[in-house]
Amino acid sequence: MSIRLGVNIDHVATIRNARGEKHPEPLIIAKKAIKYGADSITIHLREDRRHINDNDLKLISSVKSIPLNLEMATTSEMLKIAIKFKPKFVCIVPEKRNEITTEGGLNLKKNLTKLKKTIKALNQNNIRTSLFINPSKKDIQISNLLKARCVELHTGNISNQIKKSKKYLNDFKKIKNCAIYAKSLGLEVHAGHGMDYKTAKILSKIDEIEEFNIGHFLIGESIASGLKKTISKFKKILKK
Ligand code: PXP
Repeated sequence: MSIRLGVNIDHVATIRNARGEKHPEPLIIAKKAIKYGADSITIHLREDRRHINDNDLKLISSVKSIPLNLEMATTSEMLKIAIKFKPKFVCIVPEKRNEITTEGGLNLKKNLTKLKKTIKALNQNNIRTSLFINPSKKDIQISNLLKARCVELHTGNISNQIKKSKKYLNDFKKIKNCAIYAKSLGLEVHAGHGMDYKTAKILSKIDEIEEFNIGHFLIGESIASGLKKTISKFKKILKK
């Protein structure tokens, strides 16, 4: 058994966009990542299109051998796009215009109506829907009521603690208890944000987690060690 590895390639597009040219091409990197063992490819089509753009989504979603996970905000524009391109998976995330990266989990209570409508439409289109949430039992309960298939637990806090060599046991217990609870309700459990080799190793001890989504560290590390080697190393860590 192994935890699935979703590779987030947003930052391939960040590098491409820095020069406004075509290289490096997210589609090519997506194909290579799958060839080297990634289980899915994640792209976040942001409202401001700061990295991945509509053409990337069009190209990547047309390759059926790439299991695609589209991260998106709950807007009617994004819902229309998701239904048009039908990625295999969607992860709904909060989005703030001025944030550098997704800062926290969704505010479920504040967005109940919008989320309900979005999840219903995605479910009707056979798109597996995940909600990116903070590790909290209340949010897991709400995710279940909203009929999401999966929750992705935000691992930003524990990742920061581990990187700074601070105590992380409380965060670990919180994530583990949430994973156990979510699974007991029938939700599939994913985790992501800020992970590197060390965080992935620690969190892979939580049996209930079935998928990790990793981007910034993995793409950054590939510059030094190569995509193939980096994905292989993560896959080895995720083997149970
Ligand atoms: N999961 C979600 C929902 C995210 O928004 C992100 C960041 O785009 C990630 C995982 C990956 O985070 P990182 O790039 O820090 O590995």
